[in-house]
Order: sequence, then structure tokens, then C-alpha cells
Amino acid sequence: MRVLGIETSCDETAASIVALDGGSAPEILSNVVLSQIEEHAAFGGVVPEIAARAHVEALDGIVEAALTDSAVSLDEVDAVAATAGPGLVGGLIVGLMTAKAIAAAANKPLIAINHLEGHALTARLTDGLDFPYLLLLVSGGHTQIVAVRGVGDYQRWATTIDDALGEAFDKTAKMLGLPYPGGPNVEKAAAKGDASRFAFPRPMKGSAQPDFSFSGLKTAVRQAATVIAPLSDQDVADICASFQAAVADALGDRVARALARFRKEFPDKAKPALVVAGGVAANRTIKATLEARCSKAGFAFVAPPQKLCTDNAAMIAWAGIERLRAGMAGENAADFAPRSRWPLDSISAPLVGSGRRGAKA
Ligand code: KG4
Ligand code: ZN
Repeated sequence: MRVLGIETSCDETAASIVALDGGSAPEILSNVVLSQIEEHAAFGGVVPEIAARAHVEALDGIVEAALTDSAVSLDEVDAVAATAGPGLVGGLIVGLMTAKAIAAAANKPLIAINHLEGHALTARLTDGLDFPYLLLLVSGGHTQIVAVRGVGDYQRWATTIDDALGEAFDKTAKMLGLPYPGGPNVEKAAAKGDASRFAFPRPMKGSAQPDFSFSGLKTAVRQAATVIAPLSDQDVADICASFQAAVADALGDRVARALARFRKEFPDKAKPALVVAGGVAANRTIKATLEARCSKAGFAFVAPPQKLCTDNAAMIAWAGIERLRAGMAGENAADFAPRSRWPLDSISAPLVGSGRRGAKA
């Protein structure tokens, strides 16, 4: 089985060919990702119109590169899988329409993929993980804990009631005058800082409600920065280190709660696992905290390679393969309209008063 995947939901233009032959491990034959970071850096965040235009300009070449790199021709592909949501609607239209055109011209089926399903199934591509497992998705647009029970069978156990974690990193960086994207720069500054200088709140820690919250922490950072302004480099480093420590602590608490729930709901699962995905999963302090929580609870900690944790098309091609072999490729995908909002778990109702804001909503 060979599937061409296309991803354009945010600020990465990506295409990939993934293959699965018989009982052997899946293979990523090509994985081309063009980041638009430079186009958006001057604005301190993703500008939807710029993103959509950049996708239009780049996508043809990226798809061609993915085919060339893999030495697979369009004829040899079994299906075209494209992200159909959630994400910025301009980019989704570009990717999905291109995929529809390619599929129609090559007479191949088209599979509309939920971007979050791509993240959720990546650990099966990289680590051959069996269902069920727990997923922590921490990116610029999403902060969720999901029980992954099967292809198309996802249960959201926790989500953010305000900002996504990556968004909190990016806003903190902006407040402190650090460049975009904020996450890696906050981590870099934090390495030289004193994490005990500021006692920032640990939002939701110990709460019976399983969800996340980061806007209070962001406000606390702003207040601390205002009080000691103008900020020296050391002040910035100390704030970053203290912020990161608060985030890791709060995240660890939420995850420990979910691990305990997983044990209860899947008592027969011999070697349970927590998988992390999303750009924030690159953060070493956060990773170390999660790893410690997992080892304490007897869970395997699975962190796929970073370039498969952040947005890419290999995960979309792989989700296409998973759906094809499960007989869940969907019918009439050629009629599928892009969906800017598309919850992975349609049963868990959205949180009252919540709603992601910003470019990555
Ligand atoms: O998954 P991703 O590449 O894109 C989507 O949001 O879909 O995630 C990007 C987010 C940004 O908010 C970025 O600041 C954050 O991940 N990030 C980090 C780190 N590297 C990227 N946050 C904390 N520490 C990092 N090292
Ligand atoms: Zn993503």
C-alpha cells in the first residue's frame, strides 16, 4: 500500500509518501516539509492570508518533491490522503482541493483526514504501538489528552479551557521581547535562569476537573515582568525558567491523573504507554517531567522523532493507510468540505466558555 499525504492546515506545506508492504514495518519513502516561519516572523504569529497564499505557491513543488524523493509515481499510489481539518480554512482549501484534483486526474481514491488523527496515530507508524494508548498533544493550537482506542475511536479526556500550551509559550516570549516562535526561545533563555525566583501559579493542579488552563499563568508572568521592568537578560532568563517549571509541574499533575484513569479503564493492558505529540513536546524540561511521571506509574513513554511530532504529511499519509486497511477510507470524500473546527471526539462536548482563539484555533 502506498499513500500520498498532503498537509496544509497551518504554516507548514507538506507532502509525503508512506508505504506498507505485507506484514513488514511501514516505511516513510519521502517526507517534505516547508515551514513558513520566515513569512510570519515579522508579525509575531501566523497570518492566515499569508499562510494560504504561501501554500498555493509551494504545494505543487512540494508534492512533486515528495514523489521524486520516494521514486514512486502517481500511478503507483493507492490513494491520496489530505488534511481536511481542523485548521486555518484558507490552507485547508488549498490542500484539499489540490488533493481532489490529483486524485481525480490519477483516478485514485481521496481520503479526508482529521489532522488530530494524524498526530494520534503517528506512534503506530514510528513505534508500532498497539491500541489502546494515551496521547498528550501539546502544540500551538491544541492541548489535549486523548485515549486512542482504535482507528476512528478516540476519547478526549482533557482539553484546555483557555490558551493552548504552545500559545502560552509564544505569548510569554512576545511579552519578554523574545523572537517568534516563542517556545524554543523560552527554553533557550530558561537554561540560564533560576526556576525558583518566581513562584508562578500551577493552573488546575489538584483539580477534580481533568482539563488544562494557561491564561492565569500568562497573566502572572505579565505582572511579574511589569513589576521588575526594565528587564535585564537575567530577569528574562529567570522568568522563562520559572514559567517553564510551572508549566511542567501543572502538566505533570494533569498527566498523572490521566494515567491513573487509563489504568482503571484498561486494567488488562499489559504495558500501557503515553505518547507525546506537538511542537511543545520538544521541550526537554517538559519531556523529563513526563518521563518521570510515566516511569512512576509504570507507563512506557513514547516520543516519536521531533519532525514527526510537529506538523508533517507522513502522519496524514499514515492515517490514510490506517483508514484504508480498516475499511474506513470513507465514501464520497471528493465531496468533503474543509472543516476549520473538527473535534476528534465528537461525543465529548466542547467545554462551556472555552474555545481556542488565534491562528491555530
Ligand atoms: O506542532 P507545532 O509545530 O505546530 C502546531 O501548532 O500545529 O507546534 C508549534 C508550537 C509553537 O507554539 C512553539 O512555540 C512550540 O510548539 N514549541 C515549543 C518548543 N518548540 C516548539 N514550546 C516549548 N519548548 C520548545 N522547545
Ligand atoms: Zn498539528
